[in-house]
Amino acid sequence: MIGLQQVLRVFDSKPWVAHLYVTEQCNLDCHYCNEYDNSIPHPAVSDLKKWMDHIRALGVARIGFQGGEPLKHPDIAELVGYAKSLGFCSVSMSTNGFLLNRELLTDLEGAGLDQLQISVDRMTPIASTRKSMQSILHKLDWFKDSKIRLNVSGVLFKETLDEMGQVIDTCLDRGIPVHARVIHDDLVHDRTQVDRVAIRANRDALLALALDQAERAGQAPRDRQEAGHPQGRGGAGKIAESSDPAQAFRRADTDGSAGGDRRAVQAAGLSAHRVHP
Ligand SMILES: C[S@@+](CC[C@H](N)C(=O)[O-])C[C@H]1O[C@@H](n2cnc3c(N)ncnc32)[C@H](O)[C@@H]1O
Ligand code: SF4
Repeated sequence: MIGLQQVLRVFDSKPWVAHLYVTEQCNLDCHYCNEYDNSIPHPAVSDLKKWMDHIRALGVARIGFQGGEPLKHPDIAELVGYAKSLGFCSVSMSTNGFLLNRELLTDLEGAGLDQLQISVDRMTPIASTRKSMQSILHKLDWFKDSKIRLNVSGVLFKETLDEMGQVIDTCLDRGIPVHARVIHDDLVHDRTQVDRVAIRANRDALLALALDQAERAGQAPRDRQEAGHPQGRGGAGKIAESSDPAQAFRRADTDGSAGGDRRAVQAAGLSAHRVHP
């Protein structure tokens, strides 16, 4: 729900969103990721609170907890509660979901977490990514009665292309918003292969899937796209604005000469967005 406070923000130039790394540590080892370092201790709660004070004082309205794996921080619910107490209109978090249990979910809900993104790349785990539906499927049901809005996000690269459609279907069948982003090539480890040829070859299939899913969802996709990195390192860009999915994808497909393929595939991911019931 957009309040007057948020509407008024259209007229100022203060930052709108901030992402806070609440820990560098992670329980997984996705081969495409360079955003974790298990040699670094968790930041002190008092320091994280000071950072949140600063961020809020800058006028930021939405804060997203990132890492590493945020659920590895032992005081994560307290941190969420503190963010809420500062008046952020939205507090969200991205997680691989492995450490999520019912008790922790209850604590996070009690602390006021608004939105949780669970990252899922495939139906089944492989060495380069263990973030699979098989590992977290049963947890999706926990959100049926939760106030926390759930969404799922996948990373598209060579070893996830074949199963991403099933991941998207699994989510949409449960009314869960889902999207897939193309892997950030500028940040990728040598261990991960970005198969551009396969991504291009699959572009049409992904776009067709996109339209099909948008139709099944019974509504147009969301108009905005978080292109690039969630922390903004990959650059952000709006892909398409249209209430007509076909037009949106066509526009995304031809939008700009640079990165056309990449954007098109991202648009395919975007198409699977569905507003939470
Ligand atoms: C760095 S993770 C941190 C939060 C949590 N550990 C998780 O995996 O959701 C945040 C998001 O960035 C994505 N990510 C990490 N490395 C990426 C890359 N090279 N390209 C695209 N997305 C990436 C992850 O899949 C995840 O959705
Ligand atoms: S993407 Fe998330 S789960 Fe995977 S290694 Fe990076 S921080 Fe950990």
